Amino acid sequence: MDSFDLRSAVNAISDVMQNRPLPLRQFDQIYMKAGDMVAQAVFMAKRFDKMRVVFIGDGDSIALSALHLRNLGQIDFGPEHILLLDFDERIVNAATYFADHFKFSEQIEARLYNVFDPMPDDVFHSWDAFYTNPPWGKFNGGESVRVFMERGIEAVREQASGMLVIADSHDIPWTQDVLRDSQRLANDHGFLVSEMIPEQHFYHLDDAPDLKSCACVFRRAMPQIWGTASLPLPDERRLNFYGRENPLRFKYVRELPDLNRGRAPESTYALELL
Ligand SMILES: C[S@@+](CC[C@H](N)C(=O)[O-])C[C@H]1O[C@@H](n2cnc3c(N)ncnc32)[C@H](O)[C@@H]1O
Repeated sequence: MDSFDLRSAVNAISDVMQNRPLPLRQFDQIYMKAGDMVAQAVFMAKRFDKMRVVFIGDGDSIALSALHLRNLGQIDFGPEHILLLDFDERIVNAATYFADHFKFSEQIEARLYNVFDPMPDDVFHSWDAFYTNPPWGKFNGGESVRVFMERGIEAVREQASGMLVIADSHDIPWTQDVLRDSQRLANDHGFLVSEMIPEQHFYHLDDAPDLKSCACVFRRAMPQIWGTASLPLPDERRLNFYGRENPLRFKYVRELPDLNRGRAPESTYALELL
């Protein structure tokens, strides 16, 4: 890390950002700012060095960022393999395309998955670490955070780690309540908070530009109470999932074919002749 070249790293993250689909605000897709992406990708890569990591949602593309930085030789650590689960086919396809284009597709698999559904059998209890930056749960008392965390916990084995990125501003009480309850949930599953970077990242969030998030790292220290099965989400847990009066009601976001990846859609501009 001593020789870490910030300019090259930002250019690498710029490759990743250029590849991302435009965020759908109704599903709380709100992207992290570029400088914080570099820091967060390096932080995740270091903490989950050589691990097999499952991402529960990753619109930000922290998974791709870490792998891209390593494959370009800008860092020499990072996950051994990543499984990216997301309900947005545009994000799944963009990740697959990028890994293929930069020739590291053997290091990542991206799959369609909705947290409403049980964890697939081949994923259940088999990964070394989970990572999630979920909907932050302002209007459902943090329930959406707990759902994403529980899916992450279902996906990992007994000796596991986790990383949660959620809202954290010490002067905004709901963020502190959700953070406390998330740490409690982790404790209930045998995890301790091994590290926390408070108030760390900024987002492209027009109506709350000062809202920051933290990175909370967990390590399982106590034997877990093993759940024997992963179940569909009960209806009451879907309420206000993405905001007030905005429940979890869609199975997938499907991508409509468009050969203009990374370019402005033709419906967004008009040309006037000389
Ligand atoms: C909710 S956003 C949180 C903000 C984060 N900065 C981002 O934009 O990625 C995180 C990811 O969760 C995904 N997601 C949202 N609802 C989901 C669901 N029901 N099942 C699986 N993934 C979901 C989104 O597509 C997005 O990639």
